[in-house]
Amino acid sequence: MAVLLGVNIDHVATLRQARRTYEPEPLQAALVCEQAGADGITVHLREDRRHIQDADVRLLRQRIHTRLNLELALRDEILAIACDVKPDSACVVPENRQEVTTEGGLAVAGREKEVGAAVEKLRKAGMFVSLFINPDPKEIEASAKVGATHIEIHTGHYANLRKPAEVEADLALLARSAETGRKLGLVVNAGHGLNYHNVQPLVAMGLFEEFNIGHAIISRAVFTGLDRAVRDMRALLLA
Ligand code: PXP
Repeated sequence: MAVLLGVNIDHVATLRQARRTYEPEPLQAALVCEQAGADGITVHLREDRRHIQDADVRLLRQRIHTRLNLELALRDEILAIACDVKPDSACVVPENRQEVTTEGGLAVAGREKEVGAAVEKLRKAGMFVSLFINPDPKEIEASAKVGATHIEIHTGHYANLRKPAEVEADLALLARSAETGRKLGLVVNAGHGLNYHNVQPLVAMGLFEEFNIGHAIISRAVFTGLDRAVRDMRALLLA
């Protein structure tokens, strides 16, 4: 079974915002990714708008032909934009202004009421709703309880490990987590810190529906071009 590939193009917008100019254009990147076999495009509209801007989300919504996945924090302003733009899916992530990238998973357990209200709002607007959580049984159960359709398991911890025994233990945890989510009827995705090497054992598990990958693909694209970088990743996702 092929695993789906969602390409996160935030870094293209980061480069554009570094000069506050018009290039590189995220839409152009999205279209290249689609032509190279990406199954979906992911962007994160952060509260501080450090990379993706509101206009990018609206343009992508109109112009891409695969699926648009919008990452967002639980902020009323951002939720309202999501409900207006109506991406195919929303992935709720934790967000700190100071962080370089999303650190850790969303705390769902203990905040069921707050998270559940946001999930309901997004579901009513017609989106699938994914929660970006750590591979922790209590977070997976809480995600099912609040009505999420999907979970995205945070692979950042796994991606940072170097000792083989630790990598093995984390892979076992990720597999158990995916199985738990599937048993609860959730679609289970994974993402963060995945690259052309560490993605392969996860593909082999056959337990994940989709991987969301940004940094590794855009980094490779600097040297190979974006089309080639997406095709190379796509080829690895055929289990
Ligand atoms: N999934 C989520 C929920 C994320 O927040 C990010 C980073 O924006 C990614 C996947 C992609 O992570 P990376 O850029 O490390 O591939």
